[in-house]
Amino acid sequence: MKILVTGSSGQLGSVTVKHLKAHHHTVYGIDISPSGTTDELVDITDTDNTVAVCRNFDAIIHTAALHGKHYELGYPRSAFIKTNIDGTLNLLNACIKNSIPRFLFTSTTSIYGNALTDHEKAVWVDELLAEQPRDIYDITKQTAEQLCKDFFYKEGLQASVYRVARFLPEDDNLKLNHRLYRGLDERDGAKALQLALGATFESFEIFNISSGSPFKQNDLYNIKQDAEQVILKYYPAAAEIYKANGWQFPKSIDRVYVCDKAARYFNYKPAFTFEYLLNNIKG
Ligand SMILES: NC(=O)c1ccc[n+]([C@@H]2O[C@H](COP(=O)([O-])OP(=O)(O)OC[C@H]3O[C@@H](n4cnc5c(N)ncnc54)[C@H](O)[C@@H]3O)[C@@H](O)[C@H]2O)c1
Repeated sequence: MKILVTGSSGQLGSVTVKHLKAHHHTVYGIDISPSGTTDELVDITDTDNTVAVCRNFDAIIHTAALHGKHYELGYPRSAFIKTNIDGTLNLLNACIKNSIPRFLFTSTTSIYGNALTDHEKAVWVDELLAEQPRDIYDITKQTAEQLCKDFFYKEGLQASVYRVARFLPEDDNLKLNHRLYRGLDERDGAKALQLALGATFESFEIFNISSGSPFKQNDLYNIKQDAEQVILKYYPAAAEIYKANGWQFPKSIDRVYVCDKAARYFNYKPAFTFEYLLNNIKG
């Protein structure tokens, strides 16, 4: 396939470009920052340039965004609206104008927002959980998701949404702990997007993409109250590895991101799981 990747200099976008090339796709990366994975500097908020660059592709994978990092830096609401909503709309319009049949939009699990809070037990976060945006980042991602839905039904565009979990830079201990319930390795994110390119959906679909979790629904109370004993039930060897490295287990786990739907629809299976990291991080 010939694929345009937006945000190709970014963390997920750059890994996605490399992953798609390794799977023999022809890839063209656009971003506002130069890098070895970006072919052309294009600002997606510029309507004319966006339409001009989006020609002769089989699919667009849209990862460019302002996100949590920019929210913490105090970017104004208008900047989020411009990049995340107007930029996405420009790309969707470009798909229709230039007959590009597929559009994969990377959203965020942070869109579940206030729905992630339960004082008694951890929250089971599958795609049936109604999102409750907490800030302008979540609001703009939710709106962009709804734009994708509108284009799916009104314009016949194969638009779909991938709510990716957290892949921010973290120390080994935190990264490992997050990999139990809310983390994502960007290589798994890229893999999910590559697999989804091969799927055709009968209705508009949204998928959680995380590095998976060992926990089941009947663990939700116990992981909230005393996470360590449940972790050790699944991974008894973790006790020694954590001790040897001076790591701490999480005391309480508040959520479990579930990506079973992606497994059912396009065979997504994360490789860089907690178990993988536990055996491969050398502390
Ligand atoms: N990093 C995370 O933990 C995380 C978690 C959940 C969701 N996400 C989502 O995943 C996607 C990728 O995140 P990331 O961490 O790789 O982001 P990143 O900041 O590393 O990369 C985003 C890229 O988009 C580019 N960009 C920004 N505005 C642009 C514009 N107007 N035109 C063209 N390019 C523009 C930036 O220059 C940057 O290279 C985003 O949609 C983000 O919302 C990220």
